[in-house]
Amino acid sequence: DWNMPDYISEAVEKIRAQVGTDEVILGLSGGVDSSVAAALIHRAIGDQLTCVFVDHGLLRLNEGEMVMDMFAKNLGVKVIRVDATDQFMGHLAGVTDPEQKRKIIGREFVEVFQAESAKLPSAKWLAQGTIYPDVIESAGKGKKGQTIKSHHNVGGLPETMKLELLEPLRELFKDEVRKLGVALGLPYEMVYRHPFPGPGLGVRILGEVKKEYADLLRRADAIFIEELRNTPYEAVIVPGFDQDAAPRNWYEATSQAFAVFLPVKSVGVMGDGRTYDYVVALRAVQTQDFMTAHWAHLPHELLGKVSNRIINEVRGLNRVVYDISGKPPATIEWE
Ligand code: XMP
Repeated sequence: DWNMPDYISEAVEKIRAQVGTDEVILGLSGGVDSSVAAALIHRAIGDQLTCVFVDHGLLRLNEGEMVMDMFAKNLGVKVIRVDATDQFMGHLAGVTDPEQKRKIIGREFVEVFQAESAKLPSAKWLAQGTIYPDVIESAGKGKKGQTIKSHHNVGGLPETMKLELLEPLRELFKDEVRKLGVALGLPYEMVYRHPFPGPGLGVRILGEVKKEYADLLRRADAIFIEELRNTPYEAVIVPGFDQDAAPRNWYEATSQAFAVFLPVKSVGVMGDGRTYDYVVALRAVQTQDFMTAHWAHLPHELLGKVSNRIINEVRGLNRVVYDISGKPPATIEWE
């Protein structure tokens, strides 16, 4: 049981002792772990920290702006934002294989990050939001003898970068990271967001990734998430149940929810015209550990509203389907 203010001051002292007056760079992804790491390190060493935020063009709607607002504007953290959309889209053109796509995204990430870091030659440390389960997971790699999906995350210390690793969250579990984030002043909504894969929308656009598809998907996804957040969740009152931990809305009642872009067209009608447009699938799951998952039994009214809004508001999409596959045998992501 730890006391948060004490934990923060200890962690801050440790970081200061470790890096002294050195400069530190950190790859900010917009995810919880790198965000909390950035906030903590900034608390410890202020302007000695520079964050590099690579926008691969596969982020959610307005995510880039949100990251800049939160860190650069509100917390005063030095953040270099790199818009690498064209570079990523260029390398992904014509590529349809899911593992190939992941590899390309991972490789380009390192490439862009390294190029930016090279502009900060005085940096001595590379900070990462590695958390305890990541440490365990990579220690166990190879034993299982197979990779279902190559999990790409920002970083992975490139050999040519002679930097030391700074990983202040290495001993923390996810729920502890979240509590720490809130205590450091990050918005609750951000810290308690659903997980988002490193390759982003790259694995939620089936087959070839195109900017046009990403733009359609971002808007559909944002509508889905907005409606999940706005729909109250009627928690069952069980004696002894921790009511503070009860989900207040369907976003909190699901572990992960998102839209998936299907590059197939189907026929529809709109007004007195015929449409021939793309399909999106909605995916919402409930899980403890993400190793197995159930599809969420979302209320039909909610699904109906999301479907109507997507089709009415996003020109280019005319059909919405709901994914009712469990994991296993399906995975949570579609690629
Ligand atoms: P699957 O699709 O394997 O996903 O059931 C399990 C969890 O892992 C996330 N995921 C990823 N996270 N890089 C990541 O950082 C990846 O390449 C990746 N692939 C899947 C997925 O979103 C889910 O939470």
